[in-house]
Amino acid sequence: MSRIPREFDPQLIAEQSAKERRIYHDENTSKEPMASVLANNPEIYFVPPQRRSDWGKWTFKPGSYYDTTIGAKHSYWQDYDLPKPTKDIDRLRDDLVRWGYCKVEGALSEEQVAAMRQRVLDQAEGESLAGIAQRTPSGQNINSCINKGRCFELFIEQHPDAAQGGPLVEQLVTEALGEGWICNSLIAAISLQGGVPQALHQDQGNALDSTSPMMVNVLTAITDLDETTGGTLLIPGSHTVLAEALRQGKPVGKLPPAINLDAKAGTMVIIDGRVLHGTGINHTDSPRIVMLNAMQKPWLRQQENWMLSVRPEVLERASPKLLHRMGYQATTGTQTNEGHGFGARGLPDEAAGALVDFRLAADRGDYERVGQLGPQSGADELNAPYILRDVVAKARAGGVSAPVGIGSQGLVSGDR
Ligand SMILES: [Fe+2]
Repeated sequence: MSRIPREFDPQLIAEQSAKERRIYHDENTSKEPMASVLANNPEIYFVPPQRRSDWGKWTFKPGSYYDTTIGAKHSYWQDYDLPKPTKDIDRLRDDLVRWGYCKVEGALSEEQVAAMRQRVLDQAEGESLAGIAQRTPSGQNINSCINKGRCFELFIEQHPDAAQGGPLVEQLVTEALGEGWICNSLIAAISLQGGVPQALHQDQGNALDSTSPMMVNVLTAITDLDETTGGTLLIPGSHTVLAEALRQGKPVGKLPPAINLDAKAGTMVIIDGRVLHGTGINHTDSPRIVMLNAMQKPWLRQQENWMLSVRPEVLERASPKLLHRMGYQATTGTQTNEGHGFGARGLPDEAAGALVDFRLAADRGDYERVGQLGPQSGADELNAPYILRDVVAKARAGGVSAPVGIGSQGLVSGDR
């Protein structure tokens, strides 16, 4: 056996990789902007009780970030022109850019709100009865809503049947993220009396040097939000403060105070992924419900693992738009499956990048993947019912030409 060159020895590699010698070390290990946010604003970080016995027993610290009120009543913010609930698209654009959030008034009709509220409350009770409730320090979350009601499937699509203001929200999200954006997750977040506030954080965690966001969260109020019900805590305008500090390589200084988001049930609040925010405290005895439906650039990993988690019947009835939004449309650079997806643009209903048939085959237990093949392979192996053949044949039948999957010479890996 030939000797492995010394340069490939892990110990030698480690010896040659002191911090000062590594490329991009500072950037890849930076804890900014949150390190300086916390250093210079220590009062905005609150660690919730971790133990069950602490539930509801935390002490309220006056003057902390969560001891606040809505913008209109806040001594610091009351004279600022903070985001207003509106259907005016230009006002919404201005609010989103300037303050990092905007409020689409009446995006859900009263009936749409009532239907979703009932479904969320029923599901929460059902999961509690089943012993699988997902408790949070603030209350209870319903994860993977996609599997838990037709209204949620339509909601992710921003279909007018589930959210009458969907088309307006979609336009704004498209402007914020660019074409091709997909969905990060859909969670119903329920805050209950006795719950603790969440530490302020950014949803878009990594520091990329762009003026536009990589992620926006569409937060829908299903119950009224204000300072009593646990309106989301947020610092208006913090998205630009933090992004600017990063761009200039400077620490974040003293920040303005947080407010409670106020929004009537049915309002969809689009929040830039860089805004500092956290769950507020519900001081009332009725549940506070918000739907958290973040959207993101198509090349970021999603919060929900839609490839595994979505129920088969939901996938089978999913519209091309919903499949796309869940990430079931590959592009050349993302989520190709056994080579299928090379050359695809990630469009809804684009056969060249459609992945759902692979997942459905796996569900049936007959997903035959291409494995080791060679000149000695027998007819059984060469003619095996590879799902790749079916998917590519379907794409071809739909008029898709190479490069995808199987070429005239047999299996090819696609055009790189
Ligand atoms: Fe968040």
